[in-house]
This record gives sequence, C-alpha cells and structure tokens, in this order.
Amino acid sequence: MIKRFFGAFSRDIGIDLGTANTLVFVKDKGLVINEPSVVAVNSRTGQILAVGREAKEMAGKTPAHIAVVRPLLKGVISDFEVTEKMLKYFIQKVHADRSMLAPAPRVVVGVPLEITEVERKAVEDAVLSAGAREVYLIEEPMAAAIGARLPIEDAIGNMIIDIGGGTTEIAVISLGGVVTWKSIHVAGDELTRNIVQYARDVFSILLGERNAEQVKIRIGSASELDEPLEMALRGRDLISGLPKEIIVTDSQIREALARSVKTIIENVKATLENTPPELVADIYERGIVLTGGGALLKGLDKAISRAAQIPVRIADDPLTCVVRGTGVMLENPALLKIIAVPSARDDRGPATA
Ligand SMILES: Nc1ncnc2c1ncn2[C@@H]1O[C@H](COP(=O)(O)OP(=O)(O)OP(=O)(O)O)[C@@H](O)[C@H]1O
Ligand SMILES: [Mg+2]
Repeated sequence: MIKRFFGAFSRDIGIDLGTANTLVFVKDKGLVINEPSVVAVNSRTGQILAVGREAKEMAGKTPAHIAVVRPLLKGVISDFEVTEKMLKYFIQKVHADRSMLAPAPRVVVGVPLEITEVERKAVEDAVLSAGAREVYLIEEPMAAAIGARLPIEDAIGNMIIDIGGGTTEIAVISLGGVVTWKSIHVAGDELTRNIVQYARDVFSILLGERNAEQVKIRIGSASELDEPLEMALRGRDLISGLPKEIIVTDSQIREALARSVKTIIENVKATLENTPPELVADIYERGIVLTGGGALLKGLDKAISRAAQIPVRIADDPLTCVVRGTGVMLENPALLKIIAVPSARDDRGPATA
C-alpha cells in the first residue's frame, strides 16, 4: 500500500559501475554522481582516504602507505572489498540529504556482456551490501542503446559500440535483446597504455598514465585530422633518469594507437559478418552509434565508417549513455523485468537484500 503510494521505484538509482568512471542516476533528479572509479586506501589500516576525483589526483604521487586503487578491471570487479566501499560511499552520498526513514533503494546496474556468474554475483553482493534493497543488472550495450534513445524494442537492427576504459562492447540489438555481439579488452585504457609504450620505445621516456591519457584526449586520433596537432610530452628519460620534455605530433600518436584501433575495427566487421542480413540492412540504413568515453577519440567514427562502409555517429554525451539508460529503466519497470539479466542469486527474480 505504502509502496504503491510512493510509486514502485520512488527513490531508486541507476549505476554505471565502469572501469574508468562510476556514474549514479537518481530517479526524478537525474545524474548526481560522475567520478572516476578510483579509491585511495591507507594500506596499513585499510581505511579509505579518498574516493573518485580526489583519489585519482593522488595517483602516482603517494607515499608508500597509501595505495591508489582502481577496483574494477576490464569492466568487472577485481577488488571486491574496495568496490563495495566505493559503492557504499557513493550511495550514501546520494542519500545524505534524505530522511533516515526512507527505505533502501532499488538499484539498476549496467554490467558487461561477457560477465560470469561469479562476477554477476560479486556486483549484486557489492550493491546489496552497500545498502540497496533490490538489484537488477542490465547489459551495458543495452543500457547504452536505451540511453542513446535507440528503438531497442522494435524489430530493427541497432548496432551500438560502447568503448569504455576496460572493454569495448559491440552489439546488435533487436526486439529487446542482443542478437550478435563481441566484447574485447581493447578500449580506452589500452589506448593509454599504447601511448606509454610508444613513449618508452620511441623516445625512451617513462610517461605516467595520467599524462598519457591527457595526450590521448588532446591529440590522439584514429584517422587523419584536418588540422595538425602537437603537444609537449613530459616524463623521465629512461637513460639519464632526468626529466625530459619532447614535442609529439598527432601523426605519431596515431601510429601509437593504430594497432588497437585496427583491433576494434576488425571486431566490428566480424560482428557484422555474424549478423543476420535483415538486421545488417537496417544497420546499413540507420548507421552505427558510438558510446562511452572512447567514442570521443578523434576520427574514430570516421575510421570505423570507412572500414565498415556504414555511417557512424557519436551519441549525444557518450560518457553518460549507460547511466541514462539505467535511469530510463527505473521509469519502466515492466521493460526492466524483460531485459534484466537473471540474478546470479536466484534465477526467478531480482537479487534482494
Ligand atoms: N576525449 C576523449 N578522447 C579519447 N578518449 C577519451 C576521451 N574522453 C574520455 N576518454 C577515455 O574514455 C575512457 C572512459 O570511458 P567510460 O567512462 O565510458 O569508461 P567506463 O564505462 O568507466 O569503462 P568500462 O565500460 O570499460 O567499464 C577512458 O579510457 C578515457 O581515457
Ligand atoms: Mg562503460
């Protein structure tokens, strides 16, 4: 009765628990948290010192007893305890302004396609012990497609490519389900590592990950740019051990990224090859949609479009598509029940506390 009065999903939240970023959407409020999935821990006491942006700023600058950890790797939980603490921190932050009497929230979380039962259970357990009453998991590309407002329930082929930090997920969705897909671990983090490796091999410079990410974002590209770009790259000379600065160009960084870009493109083509021809015809007509932070790599849309011979567009605000998709699901419990991944705890319904 009370439940009906407040609405089935009154104060519920959607979470994109990403390798690089965690986003939280609250029903009727919108996006309230958008922070790096990074935690700083005192390794002597296990105490959490900072979460999110503040913790990310500490990376590479900490004394021995402080560890800056990314608890998710390749899109799944690698450090359960820290993930749970991070989620608890974010969920409590969201609920800080609410009455103590308010019930625990229902939570919808986006998870990778290629998730094992053990990993599914880890996500459910982490969310439940962080204070949720009920948890529903939905596949990230599905959430991304919903967030990008694609007509996923229709008998139409929609191709979505979600390029995050840890995983690139390529999926063809029709009639509310994923028809064909590929999930690979070549995504934003790998591109950043390619730049670190390139700086080491070509310039003998040891480059920090955060600097490498900045290089990728500012001048990284997957196809030739209209205007050439360059920037200073600062790191430690591997031979002298001293600080060194050199100027790199967009074409050098493009070369550093080329192999990973090619891997992504080959997997897009392979997914298309496995897709039934009717759906390929729809995709050909409607185009491919890119989401996730990696979608913003300059010229990636062009490179994919050229290789696949299909138009490609970047979704509006690609970094928030997954979480906005979970938000749409909070408004639509009937559809959520249909598309939610079965719980690892009980296959008959959502996981509950
Ligand atoms: N402008 C940009 N150009 C290139 N890459 C970018 C840009 N902005 C963000 N990125 C990259 O996008 C990645 C983060 O994207 P996103 O937040 O979608 O990942 P995630 O959802 O946390 O990861 P996953 O889905 O794999 O778990 C990072 O690797 C980041 O460096
Ligand atoms: Mg993601």
